[in-house]
Amino acid sequence: MINPTERKRSESLFERANKHIPGGVNSPVRAFKSVGGTPIFFKKAEGAYLFDEDENRYIDFINSWGPMILGHGFPEVVSAIQKQAETAMSFGAPTELEIELAETICEMTGIDMVRMVNSGTEACMSAIRLARGYTGRNKVIKFEGCYHGHADSFLIKAGSGVSTLGLPNSPGVTSGTAQDTLTAPFNNLAAVEKLIEENPGEIAAIITEPVAGNMGCIPPLEGYMEGLRALCDEHGIVFIMDEVMTGFRLAPGGAQERLGVKADLVCYGKVIGGGMPVGAFGGKREIFDHIAPNGPVYQAGTLSGNPLAVVSGLTTLNYLKDHPETYAQIDHMTERIETGMRELLDKHGFEYRINRLGSMISIHFCDTDVVDFNSAMEGNNDKFKQFFHGMLNEGVYLPPSAFETWFISMTIGESELEHTLYAADRVLQEMKK
Ligand SMILES: Cc1ncc(COP(=O)(O)O)c(C=O)c1O
Repeated sequence: MINPTERKRSESLFERANKHIPGGVNSPVRAFKSVGGTPIFFKKAEGAYLFDEDENRYIDFINSWGPMILGHGFPEVVSAIQKQAETAMSFGAPTELEIELAETICEMTGIDMVRMVNSGTEACMSAIRLARGYTGRNKVIKFEGCYHGHADSFLIKAGSGVSTLGLPNSPGVTSGTAQDTLTAPFNNLAAVEKLIEENPGEIAAIITEPVAGNMGCIPPLEGYMEGLRALCDEHGIVFIMDEVMTGFRLAPGGAQERLGVKADLVCYGKVIGGGMPVGAFGGKREIFDHIAPNGPVYQAGTLSGNPLAVVSGLTTLNYLKDHPETYAQIDHMTERIETGMRELLDKHGFEYRINRLGSMISIHFCDTDVVDFNSAMEGNNDKFKQFFHGMLNEGVYLPPSAFETWFISMTIGESELEHTLYAADRVLQEMKK
């Protein structure tokens, strides 16, 4: 069944969840706060489809926020996990599998060294600690609207001016931590230069999403990444690319390959675990010489390199390495979604911007270009909410926030494309009323 009408079981599960799980969810964006309504509880996923607790079927454009690039239940990944579960679930000791994964990651991305962790948050948090330990400096620059996980140093918003010291935007983050995080608007090199000038010899790292995905999809403007690279070289700053979303999605070598700009440290997550809770950070050998046990910068993890997670990631990456045509396929499908959506939005007379790079895409209901957090905020959230719920009722599961990127898997085929555009046509028609 495609047009879901009943979600009674999801509603009652949400009520039950709220009794013992804060907000009923284990990660806030799942709670549908920015679009309203009750989150959907799922029980099964297959290829391009999700099945909820009320037996409704949805085409999945979230794909677990990126990891399921091969689609759900990809047979080789499932059987690798099953086989590994029968062999050993965890040692907390070295395995050959970890070496294979590290070799594969380094071969695909061109980095020298990689350390496995358990989430994107851990990867980013560890990368800035390493950058600080390596440079002996304290401050980091991040960009407004870029998300690098929920470690204290990243939960900072800018003040009114670009050079204003960061203020924590979550209670619990101390002002001491916040003052070491400086923020600038994405795609604004002049603002970064000013911060560096105002804090001479104090900046350890610049961390950025190479293609922002947490304020909708915002590709870097021409020359922006190259400019950041040059500034880092000039001032001895560690350039960190947070490729948690873009890694192994935009190209086998991620955004570094796609944009032709190399970072000193890179953070990975999502695709690298093929659906298991995994992250990694890697980069130059010279910097990694400073991490424990070889160097003094401490970083560790009981379950890091867990065999189940490693085989899931390894099998996913090996597939992508052996089938590079997958990238052209998902890019092409996403391009067709973009073209189809543009035709429909024009036909129904909406103001919009669509941003896309490869298989990352987002639609903004606004009439100005979306290049940074402020311009992303210009979007009409009421229209997005209507669009989101309309699509949901047509059996299309989009991210429940105007500030999230859609992630396309390789299982989106002709019929899913056709249904998505047919649904969008109906929803946009209804929204005009
Ligand atoms: C770019 C980026 N970095 C880091 C993270 C944090 O990853 P995790 O949720 O696995 O901790 C995310 C999560 O969405 C992300 O999009």
